Amino acid sequence: MGILKKFSLQFGKPEGIFGSIAGNLMASTAVEKNKWTISLLNIQRTDNVLEIGFGPGIATKLISKLIHGGHYVGIDYSTVMFRQAKKRNIKAIQEGKVTLKLGEVSSISPSELKFDKVLSVNSIIFWKDPVKALKKIRQIMKPNGLIALTMLPYMKGATEETSQKLGDDIARYLKEAGFSQIKTTIKEMNPNAAVCVLGVNE
Ligand SMILES: C[S@@+](CC[C@H](N)C(=O)[O-])C[C@H]1O[C@@H](n2cnc3c(N)ncnc32)[C@H](O)[C@@H]1O
Repeated sequence: MGILKKFSLQFGKPEGIFGSIAGNLMASTAVEKNKWTISLLNIQRTDNVLEIGFGPGIATKLISKLIHGGHYVGIDYSTVMFRQAKKRNIKAIQEGKVTLKLGEVSSISPSELKFDKVLSVNSIIFWKDPVKALKKIRQIMKPNGLIALTMLPYMKGATEETSQKLGDDIARYLKEAGFSQIKTTIKEMNPNAAVCVLGVNE
């Protein structure tokens, strides 16, 4: 396997030294699309927020500053990302505001804590069975809870049409998983348009 292929695979499950470098690169490019996704969720101080695929923990940090009385839980299956995100958010973890979990999205199980808002940024394309995972996520959301799934394609040759197609796929997954009021939004970003699909757990 070539070094570029080896490196690009690191964005799906960062591991080892290449994964660590990929995490640092993600951190340097994550702010705009994460801020945008968070703004679309309209997070309130007391909201419980779930993030799947927190990567280096950029959204974790932004969200922990918005919530007071609410709680943030993040799940990611990469030990390298878990370590980077933990380091970046140690204060909020110690304050009990943030919980980071090492795990697969498919391993989500019913929990007492129910979520008002759920987000995932540039992660869903790596999930083995997105509809099954979204059904599990829906079970731990509050009635009328809001989910935001964002993708900003980085692959060579990607255009706004690529983002639109990703958005159509995500909208279909959300519908199949039982979400309603599905709405797709596109925003021009660097190097491509980003797409965010919102859904409500009615
Ligand atoms: C490209 S990174 C994006 C990280 C972060 N959300 C950001 O915007 O910078 C994708 C992340 O999703 C995680 N991920 C991918 N598939 C996953 C799965 N099935 N279960 C849990 N985490 C997953 C990866 O480990 C990685 O940290």
